[in-house]
Amino acid sequence: MFANIPLPAADEIIDLMARSSKDERPFKVDLTVGVYKDTNDNVVLMKAVKKVDQQLANAGRNKGYVGSKGDLEYVQLLQELAFAGQEINGYVSGIQTAGGSGGLRAILDLIKLANPEAKIWVSNPTYANHIPTIMAAGLAYEEYPFIDDKTMTLDESGLFNTLEKLGENDVVLLHGSCHNPSGLRLTLQHWEQIAQLSKSTKFFPLIDTAYQGFADGLNEDAAGLITVANTVERLALCVSCSKNFGLYSDRVGAAYILSPTQEEANKAQAQLAIMSKPTYWVPPSNGAEIVKTILKTPELKKMWSDELAQINVSIKGIRAKLCAAFRNYSGNNYFDYILSQEGMFAMLPATEEQMESLRDEYAVYGLNNGRINLASIPEQQIDYFVKSVLAVTRASK
Ligand SMILES: Cc1ncc(COP(=O)(O)O)c(C=O)c1O
Repeated sequence: MFANIPLPAADEIIDLMARSSKDERPFKVDLTVGVYKDTNDNVVLMKAVKKVDQQLANAGRNKGYVGSKGDLEYVQLLQELAFAGQEINGYVSGIQTAGGSGGLRAILDLIKLANPEAKIWVSNPTYANHIPTIMAAGLAYEEYPFIDDKTMTLDESGLFNTLEKLGENDVVLLHGSCHNPSGLRLTLQHWEQIAQLSKSTKFFPLIDTAYQGFADGLNEDAAGLITVANTVERLALCVSCSKNFGLYSDRVGAAYILSPTQEEANKAQAQLAIMSKPTYWVPPSNGAEIVKTILKTPELKKMWSDELAQINVSIKGIRAKLCAAFRNYSGNNYFDYILSQEGMFAMLPATEEQMESLRDEYAVYGLNNGRINLASIPEQQIDYFVKSVLAVTRASK
């Protein structure tokens, strides 16, 4: 049966992680994987998450199936968090999913059901799993301009000139905050412009919120979503709790649809649930139980959001130190773009070959497209990292 199937291309991140783990050079800097780590290279287990996880284990976890819509109390609490507790015009319905990825897939399946001709527009560049998920759902995709790769800043005219030409068969996939991989920031004015364009051209907004709390704060990071939701009649939202709760392997997420009527919202929710069944039957419940308990218990919610705010401060500090070091060693302010961005990621102005030279000659690991997870750079390695990047990209003038 499987003798003649092709071997798929290797996964870039998994491959680089394996390569880096074999690299024993003591000055190695590994910035490949998109998880938040502490300065000792450990994935952070957040205090509130650890506490609830232990409590649930001590109480004896209920391992029964949850319904195919998931735990609706969790779905409601996560919705309130995603929309920063704001009232939205219209009806929001949702389901619990296996991570934000499961949420995205469920939404794409629903779009395919509603309009098989729909075309999904993704930013160029975008998160590595977006295009494969769109293709797996059997939908067409195209890219809209996003980064100006000379200045590493937002290609505003490219973005808006493309969006204004779209129509009702077009779905625009947007990152709620902390764009992966670029780290580029959309201002509130950008979001207002996007919302107005969606209203006038009738393209459908699909927002992927995977880093709420990593840009300016939990409520602040919801501003783009809220702006769009209060301008258009319909949108879709997938939410991931992988990063902001540090629950990567527990697969915690949700999918939501905003509709103008209760009836449409109910139908969308029922279809989302039905369509996840042939893939994994019902969503995993352990992580969702942890998130639900944190969100509904004020002391735990405070403990969690305080720790997230601390992570945010730390990332901003690293951005500032990186910029200062780049200014210092390059003698120019080209790399100041890093300071105006948000979240864990930034892109280096480097070609694939230059990224390979960084690994090969300097033991500095980033992705081929130049993405680095700057949140995990140890402070004492900032100078070495910056000097290596400058040596390879010859940006030093
Ligand atoms: C933009 C974006 N969406 C979704 C995900 C995946 O989230 P999850 O692990 O919850 O499936 C990621 C993970 O890196 C991401 O960057």
